[in-house]
Amino acid sequence: MSEMSDSPEMLLTEIDHVAIAVNDLEAAIDYYKRAFGATVAHREIVEQDGVEEALLKVAQSYVQLLTPTRPDSPVAKSLEKRGEGLHHIGYRVANCAQALQSMIDAGAKPIDNAPRKGSRGTTVAFVHPKGSFGTLIELVQE
Ligand code: CO
Repeated sequence: MSEMSDSPEMLLTEIDHVAIAVNDLEAAIDYYKRAFGATVAHREIVEQDGVEEALLKVAQSYVQLLTPTRPDSPVAKSLEKRGEGLHHIGYRVANCAQALQSMIDAGAKPIDNAPRKGSRGTTVAFVHPKGSFGTLIELVQE
């Protein structure tokens, strides 16, 4: 029996991170510490994106607390429009370029047309929520 399929081998290797946009990064870090005993594994200002992030490690994944560093950053606009909360999900992949192309082939609308540098030395590409069932997706290659 022949089977027609153009879907790739499974490209997602891990949930890399769940990103939560917050107004006060220190308050959010303190809350996760008091509520869960979580500590900051990595902290970084990503100039290009206009954000400061704090990564809390959970097994092989992260909770990423995210706050804007300037008023014109996309996260600042998101906070203005939608308030605090879930901002995007980071899917870990072995090959960012391959996964991005596969998403485009499946009908996704890229925000980044090619992979670029992300935080902690990763290679990333963002994909628009429109075309991906309402979720801003970040592909993350370590
Ligand atoms: Co992210």
